[in-house]
Amino acid sequence: MLSSTLEVAFNDQLGAELYSSHLYLAMSAYCESANQPGAARWFRLQAAEEREHAMKFFGYVVDRGGRVALGPIAGPPAEFASLLDAFQRALQAEREVTARINRLYGAAVGEADYAAQAFLQWFVQEQVEEEKQAGDVVEMLAVADDVPASLFMLDRELGSRQGG
Ligand code: FEO
Repeated sequence: MLSSTLEVAFNDQLGAELYSSHLYLAMSAYCESANQPGAARWFRLQAAEEREHAMKFFGYVVDRGGRVALGPIAGPPAEFASLLDAFQRALQAEREVTARINRLYGAAVGEADYAAQAFLQWFVQEQVEEEKQAGDVVEMLAVADDVPASLFMLDRELGSRQGG
């Protein structure tokens, strides 16, 4: 059984993952309006992935005899200055999620909850991938430097992301 402290913390992270999904969906909507369909698809797939993350927490709280508690999801920003701005904010958001996961892991260590630590290991690894993924796109966009032909090619590449 999860301690009440970890139950609250896991529910909080469930909400944070749902917010991430919302944020990426907002970025997808921005890209659609900015005529960047490849990036829009990339963000839509990322939004779906974040929902899967949320559902992992949902399932885990239930499996450990806890009670899932859903709170409101804050509205994400609707406007972004550019595709680079959107990906920079995505990278920042992923860094914040990494910090949250690390705090959660620390709490599980503090309570000697080894099962929770094992569950969180997947997220620790996943965050390495999430930060790298967003960071790589930020670097590519910085190199593209607003050159239309480069942005067009990059949008196509983003649109080839597997999934969905
Ligand atoms: Fe669920 Fe992108 O971290």
